[in-house]
Amino acid sequence: STHQDFLQCLSLRSNDSTSISNVIYTRNNSSYSFVLESTIRNLRFNLTDTPKPLVIITPSRTSHFQATIYCARKHGLQIRTRSGGHDYEGLSYVARVPFVVVDLVNFRSVDVDVENRVAWVQAGAILGEVYYRIAEKSRTLGFAGGIYFTIGVGGHISGGGFGLLFRKYGLACDNVIDAQFIDVNGRILDRKSMGKDLFWAIRGGGGGSFGIVLAWKVALVPVPPTVTAFSISRALEQNATQLILRWQDIAHQLPDEMNPDVTMFSFNSTQDGRKTILVSFSSLFLGTIDELLPIMQQRFPELGLSGQDCIEMSWIEAVLYYNQLQNQPLETLLNRTFRTPSGGQYYKIKSDYVKEPISETGLNGLFSRLSDEEASSAVIIFMAYGGIMGRIPEDATPYAHRAGNLFKIYYNVNWQEQDNVNSQKYIDWSRRVYKDMTPFVSKSPREAYANYRDLDLGSNNVGITSYTQASIWGRKYFKNNFDRLVQVKTKIDPENFFKHEQSIPPLF
Ligand code: FDA
Repeated sequence: STHQDFLQCLSLRSNDSTSISNVIYTRNNSSYSFVLESTIRNLRFNLTDTPKPLVIITPSRTSHFQATIYCARKHGLQIRTRSGGHDYEGLSYVARVPFVVVDLVNFRSVDVDVENRVAWVQAGAILGEVYYRIAEKSRTLGFAGGIYFTIGVGGHISGGGFGLLFRKYGLACDNVIDAQFIDVNGRILDRKSMGKDLFWAIRGGGGGSFGIVLAWKVALVPVPPTVTAFSISRALEQNATQLILRWQDIAHQLPDEMNPDVTMFSFNSTQDGRKTILVSFSSLFLGTIDELLPIMQQRFPELGLSGQDCIEMSWIEAVLYYNQLQNQPLETLLNRTFRTPSGGQYYKIKSDYVKEPISETGLNGLFSRLSDEEASSAVIIFMAYGGIMGRIPEDATPYAHRAGNLFKIYYNVNWQEQDNVNSQKYIDWSRRVYKDMTPFVSKSPREAYANYRDLDLGSNNVGITSYTQASIWGRKYFKNNFDRLVQVKTKIDPENFFKHEQSIPPLF
């Protein structure tokens, strides 16, 4: 009956009940499953026993958000907000209490103003739409957002957002200059009316805690007409360990125009059936091959980079390239339900920040884990920090992992099997690697990236959030910025309407 009351409330509350009925999907609606599943990325959260929303609302105007918030509060339903659905723990579409999903699929216009180098981007747009719309108007402007193009702008910018340009221009959240936001009372706020604390909090403090971001105004950044991508792979037998040791010393000092990373994975060697570890050193460079080679020969001669390892392209082609879509039409970037054909659909992700180079023993431990049977589809990536990341103060936005980091680690284990027993063995593997890495990574707190949501770090209880409990993961994600986030939350949503397993708690 709550469900019926909620629906009745929506139609009474909406100024135009016909239009809101077009964007409501109840479980009886034949499109309900399609709408729900269309952007579920991690299939761990699309099983038959996964809790499903009572209703999905896909607002097409701001009054639909206002009606939904009002009626959900009135009838005791939780709201989960979804933009691109990439949350690694499925928090934008799964809850353990009766809930509704507000999906911003219809809120995705992108207005690019080349002259002023800004764009207004509605939160439901995917990064691919943003990159495409910019490229339509200019090939020498870009946006400093993530690599994977189906990521939603709403969740991505709310939690930070780093990609090919982050060492040159910072994170996506560093490039926000205004926002349109709706609070728990249905007020539509912009940068000025929301005040500096809330404007600070929504740019990196994690999605789903403060209200709903409707749109971001973002700064566009200059990119050269030609950029260069390179990648060099070495097996352990080809001196890869020594190269990683060297890379750890220099990668964070390479020019801001690069985003050096090291990707490690294993595969079954056909000759003797044993696992081979392959290590790949790569980067995008904002410039030509001729400009890049002397830099690499001077700074990292051991890598032996040559012109043959490099490929020149435009910035927008680089977006396709890093999505493994070379030579595909640019329009592919508009496909929000696109899925890469390879790679597991079930996954567990973790992150770490590294302040001191990892010793050879530490690296060997990592390689040994990558040789485990469960790691056949695992990938571990070191992403060099430095550049502008070291020059932005820790409290400029809630994203606090700035100076002092050599690199970030991304641990990804993914698999194809659907059953829970098999899933558990991969999840256990990722926990083992994470435990093994304890001596080599940041401490007190052991830092983690909020956009790589990991519920192993802790979780709010159903119904009640505790400051002490939330500080455990809150300080890992936000360091000392956590306390300011709690203050903002206490002011903007004191009754804690917008909440989830890792939302910022108010102080009661
Ligand atoms: P989703 O819709 O699931 O939302 C994530 C969180 O934000 C949820 O808590 C949700 O409630 C909240 N939220 C969503 N929309 C909101 C809104 N409008 N207002 C308020 N809260 C909102 N990260 C990165 O930095 N660089 C990268 O290259 C990648 N690559 C990558 C690849 C793949 C395949 C995945 C699955 C993920 C990444 N990520 C990433 C992580 C990604 O940035 C992170 O999952 C984002 O939160 C995803 O944003 P979505 O809107 O897609 O997620």
